[in-house]
Amino acid sequence: MAKVKIGVLISGSGSNLQAIIDRIEAGTLDAEIAVVISNEPEAYGLTRAEKHGLPALVVNHRDFPGREAFDLRLVEVLRAHGVELVVLAGFMRLITRTLLEAFPHRVMNIHPALLPAFPGVHVWGKVVDYGVKFSGCTVHFVDEGADTGPIIIQAVVPVLDDDDAETLAARILKQEHRIYPRAIQLFAEGRLKVEGRRVRVLPLDRSQDEAALANPRLED
Ligand code: GRF
Repeated sequence: MAKVKIGVLISGSGSNLQAIIDRIEAGTLDAEIAVVISNEPEAYGLTRAEKHGLPALVVNHRDFPGREAFDLRLVEVLRAHGVELVVLAGFMRLITRTLLEAFPHRVMNIHPALLPAFPGVHVWGKVVDYGVKFSGCTVHFVDEGADTGPIIIQAVVPVLDDDDAETLAARILKQEHRIYPRAIQLFAEGRLKVEGRRVRVLPLDRSQDEAALANPRLED
């Protein structure tokens, strides 16, 4: 299986980046991290990338006159590293058409709630306060809205009576680290088909598996 070249955009700790690195190093994710980009110079995710010998750099949004100019620079860096899929992992900047048009249906994001419920930031406290009984996380393709793109994969967790934002966030983060590599693997296998708002997961193409001919035949 060909490895998809990904560019990971971060702003903070980078635990989702770490989960992707770990799956790649374990040989269970057909991807290659071509570059890690942070808009925050102090992001711990940069240290994680450097520890694994990955190209990592800062593109600080404060150095640009506006979102489009910032995204244009991101596109330059991503293209320069041959990126095929852009992976937003705790990247706290809204994406503009400039980046989306450069990577159509090739920009993914992870959100720590069951979209379309609870979009935006600081969702864990809102979920607990609202009193819902289940929450979870969502990987989706990014469109021009905030957390509104077609959904690729979701995982559900219970919200427990004694939960606060921190305990819920920790339970959800564990599932994030499982579903994000899965979404990237499905993309690498060419199995994600966007149909309007919906994402269809196509069956794994096994035609190459069965194409092998053996003489004498493998089975009688
Ligand atoms: C995650 O909960 C993610 O869903 C949200 O930001 C958090 C970032 O976590 N967008 P990390 O930087 O990957 O640890």
